[in-house]
Amino acid sequence: MNNMDFSFTLFLLVLAFSFKSSSSFLSSLRKGSSISVENPQDQIISQNGMFSAGFTSIGENSYSFAIWFTEPTSLDLNKTIIWMANRDQPVNGKRTKLSLLNTGNIVLLDVSLNNVWSSNTASLKPLELHLKNDGNLVLRELQGINILWQSFDSPTDTLLPGQPLTRYTKLVSSISESNHSSGFYMFFFDDENILGLHYDGRDVSSSYWPSPWLLSWDVGRSNFNSSRNAVLDSFGSFHSSDNFTFSTSDYGTVLQRMMKLDSDGVVRVYSRTNVSQNWYVSWQAFTGTCLVHGICGANSTCSYSPKIGRKCSCIPGYRMNNPNDWSYGCEPMFDFTCNKSESTFLEIKNVEFYGYDFHYIEICNYSACLDLCIQDCNCKAFQHSYWEKKGLYRCFTKTQLQNGRFYPSFKGSTYLRLPKGSTFSKRESSDPSDDICSEKLQRVYVKESENHFVKFFLWFATAIGALETVFIFSVWCSLFRSRQKTYADQHGYHLAELGFRKYSYLELKKATKGFSQEIGRGGGGVVYKGILSDGRHAAIKRLYNAQQGEGEFLAEVGIIGRLNHMNLIEMWGYCAEGKYRLLVYEYMENGSLAENLSANKLDWSKRYKIALSIGRVLAYLHEECLEWILHCDIKPQNILLDSNFEPKLADFGLSKLQNRNNLNNSSVSMIRGTRGYMAPEWIFNLPITSKVDVYSYGIVVLEMITGKSPTTGFKIVNGEEESDGRLVTWVREKRGGNISWLEEIVDSQIGLNYDKSKMEIMAKVALDCVVDDRDSRPTMSRVVEMLQYHGSDI
Ligand SMILES: *[C@@H]1O[C@H](CO)[C@@H](O)[C@H](O)[C@H]1NC(C)=O
Ligand SMILES: *[C@@H]1O[C@H](CO)[C@@H](O)[C@H](O)[C@H]1NC(C)=O
Ligand SMILES: *[C@@H]1O[C@H](CO)[C@@H](O)[C@H](O)[C@H]1NC(C)=O
Ligand SMILES: *[C@@H]1O[C@H](CO)[C@@H](O)[C@H](O)[C@H]1NC(C)=O
Ligand SMILES: *[C@@H]1O[C@H](CO)[C@@H](O)[C@H](O)[C@H]1NC(C)=O
Ligand SMILES: *[C@@H]1O[C@H](CO)[C@@H](O)[C@H](O)[C@H]1NC(C)=O
Ligand SMILES: *[C@@H]1O[C@H](CO)[C@@H](O)[C@H](O)[C@H]1NC(C)=O
Ligand SMILES: *[C@@H]1O[C@H](CO)[C@@H](O)[C@H](O)[C@H]1NC(C)=O
Repeated sequence: MNNMDFSFTLFLLVLAFSFKSSSSFLSSLRKGSSISVENPQDQIISQNGMFSAGFTSIGENSYSFAIWFTEPTSLDLNKTIIWMANRDQPVNGKRTKLSLLNTGNIVLLDVSLNNVWSSNTASLKPLELHLKNDGNLVLRELQGINILWQSFDSPTDTLLPGQPLTRYTKLVSSISESNHSSGFYMFFFDDENILGLHYDGRDVSSSYWPSPWLLSWDVGRSNFNSSRNAVLDSFGSFHSSDNFTFSTSDYGTVLQRMMKLDSDGVVRVYSRTNVSQNWYVSWQAFTGTCLVHGICGANSTCSYSPKIGRKCSCIPGYRMNNPNDWSYGCEPMFDFTCNKSESTFLEIKNVEFYGYDFHYIEICNYSACLDLCIQDCNCKAFQHSYWEKKGLYRCFTKTQLQNGRFYPSFKGSTYLRLPKGSTFSKRESSDPSDDICSEKLQRVYVKESENHFVKFFLWFATAIGALETVFIFSVWCSLFRSRQKTYADQHGYHLAELGFRKYSYLELKKATKGFSQEIGRGGGGVVYKGILSDGRHAAIKRLYNAQQGEGEFLAEVGIIGRLNHMNLIEMWGYCAEGKYRLLVYEYMENGSLAENLSANKLDWSKRYKIALSIGRVLAYLHEECLEWILHCDIKPQNILLDSNFEPKLADFGLSKLQNRNNLNNSSVSMIRGTRGYMAPEWIFNLPITSKVDVYSYGIVVLEMITGKSPTTGFKIVNGEEESDGRLVTWVREKRGGNISWLEEIVDSQIGLNYDKSKMEIMAKVALDCVVDDRDSRPTMSRVVEMLQYHGSDI
């Protein structure tokens, strides 16, 4: 051993000298040679120059042996690192070396010769450590093809194209974007052969993707194939043995790609078309980072808005355990008491805590639910929520407060158990619902009378987020069945029924009588009328383009299914079978706004109401705290009317989820929309923002006012010249011209029977929406504010 150390040191000396004289990068490392942290030129570079391996600085005087994308070469801290040998044990900047020993082992020794990392290999044959063009660092025999070790077998948080994820490997996130130590999130095949995301925190662990309240079957996964293998190819197509597949939004040839489990617990695919440009996200498992478990630690709530991003807050009566790190969660500032008469409950609205239910009971009123909690010493809080699908209340008692999430569409409250008389048990204590959403709403609606504020909230309350809250157990209320099951300290979210379901192709074929009654077309498919086996009338859309993989299709369906607003068409289910892709929606008696306008069925107040409701649902899609969604194809054909002429927005075939990291570098590449309603950004290839929907909305409102379609030509008299113009130009022209402009533009079928001031505000708002400069257009919440303020007695 001493002998070897000696010869090894000697070799290093020789090596050190040779490096002093020549500063060339290495193409591989042979037996007996090493790479020193002190010489930044000591790097192994792949033949194509794309990847480099060597020591890299990951903090102040701390280094890791890593592989990274060679470009950009500038700063250590901006490297895109794809693999690390010693992420959890960074080394000192002095005298640390990675050596390929004569025994065939690769060792990373720090200044005090501690073995920080090793490949645990042995061979007497001549070997080389070589960095392949795909970014795989391999230890292989010089002669022959035998590979003893490869970095692809021990990924850190990144997979490269062609690098398989297997039953033996997993991705583990970093602590944060700047600290590369192992974090709490993992991506691997579970015991049931399903590829998913898991949280492994300080005290608790759980799975959060695919949605744990759904069966793997219902998200299109299959657990029969035990080969457990998943791989991303260089075109951006991902295939997993559990039948999960997707293609990135930029499917095709790009320069570089990588799949990374980010420190926020979301797995994403990044692409780069030019090494001098930034990486952009071309796929992500889901949006809305509050769905990630443990993201704010225990006893806290997470809220998300596109503008501010994720925000964590302690629940009332609790403070952060570690003011610099949310993963430690919050601790109570009081002592728990078992004494019933000393407990009180504080309501926090729209907050759900996932998992750790002690009891679950249906059809329970508030006092019965409270009783259930107060009887139990371990009950920290209870959740009481209305379950609209069944028209009853549900009660969950909580032994732990994990995965707290604030989202306005969750129609329910959590009641925190606090000691009586303490200051934080009073209502004015810091409430998580003082978050951005409600703040904004209060600001926006402060001008209104109390009544309208309440009215607004009634509307708001009817916008129920269903899916997350559809955690249905096979347990029944004790009041009903005199039987209670106890789910102590476990994830009690089982599935019995879904907010929407999977239909078979045959079922839908039967429902539509062989797709015989067509009721609409466009947005990527044909819509048929159908009657489901349970007697409900449905609109069934058969998509033309069925090339999309099932996984990707289901991901989209899941996102749309999760949206819930009274002015959004409700999706009941889907079918993804072979080459068939179908969506099942509620059927709308009164047809589309387009039909109703041309049939002159709408008086001015109906038109006003429709404008306001569509404004609200767009504000919900763009700005509420769920996800940020653009519709991109607002037009009268996509606005359907129910039996009360309440409008519902349909057709998300073209909708686009906006990643908040991606706002400037817009990921919308294809032109979407319908001529006449499309904002100028599409034509001038400018970044696509929510203002494209604002523009289309403005056109629709103008169409409702004038009864004229934007695609019909307008005679514009400009001085002597007469030309064909757009609806917008025509209305602007009229407005500029005279005082009675309104009378001239209002649909002759409305006659004179309308409220002039409201019609005027509607026209002004519409004109504001259709200005060419997108930044000058109002936001949808501003639109709602303007319409509602003036039309408040409708
Ligand atoms: C390095 O990254 C930081 C933050 O990510 C960024 O502000 C800075 O501009 C980058 N520097 C270079 C040279 O790319
Ligand atoms: C990175 O995180 C680990 C684990 O929390 C911690 O021990 C280490 O000090 C952190 N490193 C830096 C540079 O903050
Ligand atoms: C299991 O998955 C692997 C990898 O995706 C695939 O090659 C194989 O054909 C599958 N086996 C079965 C029985 O479906
Ligand atoms: C996997 O998906 C393919 C095509 O989508 C389908 O034919 C096959 O039946 C699925 N396998 C399982 C086990 O679900
Ligand atoms: C990459 O971007 C730089 C600067 O933006 C440009 O000069 C160069 O031509 C681009 N290279 C390729 C291959 O597009
Ligand atoms: C969360 O609060 C409970 C009491 O409700 C307490 O027992 C627990 O220790 C807290 N968790 C953390 C991480 O402080
Ligand atoms: C509970 O608290 C009440 C009032 O503080 C007290 O009178 C009663 O003795 C307590 N009960 C127990 C079992 O400690
Ligand atoms: C709540 O339910 C319990 C049990 O069914 C019943 O005794 C009680 O009267 C109910 N309370 C209210 C306010 O409805």
